[in-house]
Amino acid sequence: MLDLVPHRELGPDVGVLVARRRPGFSLDAAFYTSQEIFDLDMEHIFGRQWLFAAPVAAIPDPGDYAKLDFGRFSVIILRDDDGDFRAFHNVCRHRGARLLSECSGSVGNIVCPYHQWTYGTNGNLLYAEGDHTFDRALYGLKPVHIREIAGLLFICLAKTPPADFDQFAAELEPYLLPHGVRDAKVAHQMDIIEKGNWKLTIENNRECYHCGGHPELSATSFGMFGYDEDNISPEKQAVLSRYKDALAEFVRLWEGESLPWKAIEHLDDRQAGFRTERHPLEGAGEAMTMDGRAASKKPMGRLKNFRLGRLHLHTQPNSWHHFQADHAVTFCALPVSPGETLLRTTWLVHKDAVEGVDYELENLIHVWRETNCQDQRFVELAQLGALSPAYEPGPYAPAEAQVDKFCNWYITQLDRGMNGR
Ligand code: FES
Ligand SMILES: [Fe+2]
Repeated sequence: MLDLVPHRELGPDVGVLVARRRPGFSLDAAFYTSQEIFDLDMEHIFGRQWLFAAPVAAIPDPGDYAKLDFGRFSVIILRDDDGDFRAFHNVCRHRGARLLSECSGSVGNIVCPYHQWTYGTNGNLLYAEGDHTFDRALYGLKPVHIREIAGLLFICLAKTPPADFDQFAAELEPYLLPHGVRDAKVAHQMDIIEKGNWKLTIENNRECYHCGGHPELSATSFGMFGYDEDNISPEKQAVLSRYKDALAEFVRLWEGESLPWKAIEHLDDRQAGFRTERHPLEGAGEAMTMDGRAASKKPMGRLKNFRLGRLHLHTQPNSWHHFQADHAVTFCALPVSPGETLLRTTWLVHKDAVEGVDYELENLIHVWRETNCQDQRFVELAQLGALSPAYEPGPYAPAEAQVDKFCNWYITQLDRGMNGR
């Protein structure tokens, strides 16, 4: 018998581990457990790539902010006095104190709690007590790149962000704009800590091989995500046939509403990697609720019909999303430590939808709250496995092709970063 023990210090160096990664197999344990690789992930993945930060609805008015902590970074995203989006390192330019400690809130100016240096919402240093003679213009908050696509905010800490983000934005916008995410409000937000490495959180999201463990999600999902119809088990044949019938009908509905629906997949061949596609839902086909009916009476954006299934979006390295006619759910993974990841889930409805009148919160959030709890357990189990001396990389199933693509992307970006490319 083997006891679980904390992961020993790395044997081979990280370059060797990167070079010996075997496509089609899960990663070496150290990628999930070592502090050294976690630090490299923060430098080369979270410090260089575009990250999903929040829906714009999370910071609706000038002065509103949200704080994102990952690894040793802390970033504030906010609306400045003109309503434009800004992002800054949450680090005072005097002696470095953490400026904002709450996850979200609203400020007139940003005032450091230590010695009260005061910054405008545009990051400019406005006030420093005492007869300083320095040039205040040199001590504004350090900016972080921020971009919006159809109601979703992305940030990048790199000096020069990956340029293919423009391509991603151009391809995603036609899919997302009809959903009116810009005109949404936050109905609910939930933070949970998964006791697993951030890559296990993302890997778990990138497959439905485990969807038998999601009874609530399975009420409306066909569970065909990732499956190749030419290579499907006999048990799945009946589901596949139902799925194909539903798809034929939904394609007519989508095309009737001029909604693009075909898959676009660039999960491992671009730096700003992503995947989007429209999918039918089972039953009423309106939303990922227990009965498949819309949870909110007010359709979002320009949508009129509720029976439109869902638009999914995966972005590397840290997010996934489901957009339905009546509501949307966004998921943002933020690494805390090698063995802990914060998962922030945000439910969005039309900005005029009223709780208790247009939607019941419990009905709106039930499926994904329960699914998150189930996934939290799966991720924790996977982390415990990676910590065991008995762990070795195992083969991904065909239905886990997107997990493999995530690992391809991750290893490629880590390798490039470590080699200065
Ligand atoms: S550290 Fe912020 S004012 Fe001194
Ligand atoms: Fe899951």
